[in-house]
Amino acid sequence: MQRIQLLGSTGSIGSQAIDIIEEFPEAFALHAISARHNVKKVLEILSRHDCEIVVMAGEHQETIESAYPGVTFIALEDEGLKSIVEYAPDAKVLNALVGSVGLPPTLAAIERGKDVLLANKETLVVGGPLIRKALEHSSSTLIPIDSEHAALRECLKGSDIDDVEKLVITASGGSFRDVDKEKLKDATVEDALKHPNWDMGAKITVDSATMMNKVFEIIEAHYLFDMPYERIEALLHHQSVIHGMVHFKDGNVLAHVGPSDMRIPILSAMQGDSRKRFPSLFDLAAYGTLSFEPIDKDRYSLYDLGTAVARKGGLHVVTMNAANEEAVQLFLNKKISFLDIEALITRALDHFPNTETFTLDTLLAHEREVRSYIKHEYQKVKTCS
Ligand SMILES: NC(=O)c1ccc[n+]([C@@H]2O[C@H](COP(=O)([O-])OP(=O)(O)OC[C@H]3O[C@@H](n4cnc5c(N)ncnc54)[C@H](OP(=O)(O)O)[C@@H]3O)[C@@H](O)[C@H]2O)c1
Repeated sequence: MQRIQLLGSTGSIGSQAIDIIEEFPEAFALHAISARHNVKKVLEILSRHDCEIVVMAGEHQETIESAYPGVTFIALEDEGLKSIVEYAPDAKVLNALVGSVGLPPTLAAIERGKDVLLANKETLVVGGPLIRKALEHSSSTLIPIDSEHAALRECLKGSDIDDVEKLVITASGGSFRDVDKEKLKDATVEDALKHPNWDMGAKITVDSATMMNKVFEIIEAHYLFDMPYERIEALLHHQSVIHGMVHFKDGNVLAHVGPSDMRIPILSAMQGDSRKRFPSLFDLAAYGTLSFEPIDKDRYSLYDLGTAVARKGGLHVVTMNAANEEAVQLFLNKKISFLDIEALITRALDHFPNTETFTLDTLLAHEREVRSYIKHEYQKVKTCS
């Protein structure tokens, strides 16, 4: 029985991971869960699973403990996400948190030699160099759950990375792919949250509409597969049927095909070397024609900016991510317009100098500065737009 410590259990990925655990009760069990404030969902999960540990904002302690006295409650404020991984050395950590809050627990898990099943893309975006270094001194394995990287991992099985010429990931184009760029100034939160192919959490759905999500995935691919940026490409592919492709040196190209269903990469990461039976079969014929095109850098200007920042590397990637997290939240709270997201990220990159190297402590301190800068700066951007 594989025990799972599920960080971000109440979110979109967290809920789908629980679906998989419930589909295969003989193979997987929940050992610990985390959330921030969604106490209703946490109580629902506890009613169906014998979890030993719950990490949440401290204000929910009494509610959880009175309903489930046997559960150990750890407050988020007491570094709960990091301390969760100290329990149950045999358990795997499934990180489904949103945002760079996911980095410290991933690092802590790797330092303890635990395998990490990683949906939280911001971990590698901001902490790629730190994660890479930690993995050099650890027995743990990092297994991606993002659909594109899970696809690449399947295509790479049994092959040598030195035989790879290029990695390709695909992009749906997000909620505004059929909207003229001039009309984006009027884009509403409700429209941004209507993704054409996937049902995901709010932040990633907005990142998908700005194409920042694809920048993040290129950075993830760079660190996961140790591939230089110039050999990673993203293609616009409206149907989201092919998630990733590997071009080998000898001209062979392997593509991973499947539905827009995150439960497949979640199961792939959880199942280890076995192959379990997924409940439904994919019907490629239902999709008809598949289309592919390069990403238009004028149309998706944040993609162009973000990939340039990624290629340069250093602390600017952290600046970009923190500014993006704050700006997306401001947009979701209807404080700024859709186009202000990019304007704020550009301002932050102009304001903060880049440095080549950083530690976890300097990274976290820098993030706090950037977040505070955006919270003060957004009023000015608003007036300009
Ligand atoms: N959704 C997808 O289909 C998908 C696909 C590929 C990759 N990903 C990546 O997977 C990650 C999770 O995405 P998601 O869509 O599942 O996000 P989500 O639905 O917003 O869920 C986020 C989870 O993290 C918790 N959380 C949020 N902020 C927190 C904080 N500051 N401290 C502690 N916990 C916090 C939430 O708890 P509460 O519910 O209590 O707020 C929730 O459990 C992201 O990095 C995303 O880019 C998602």
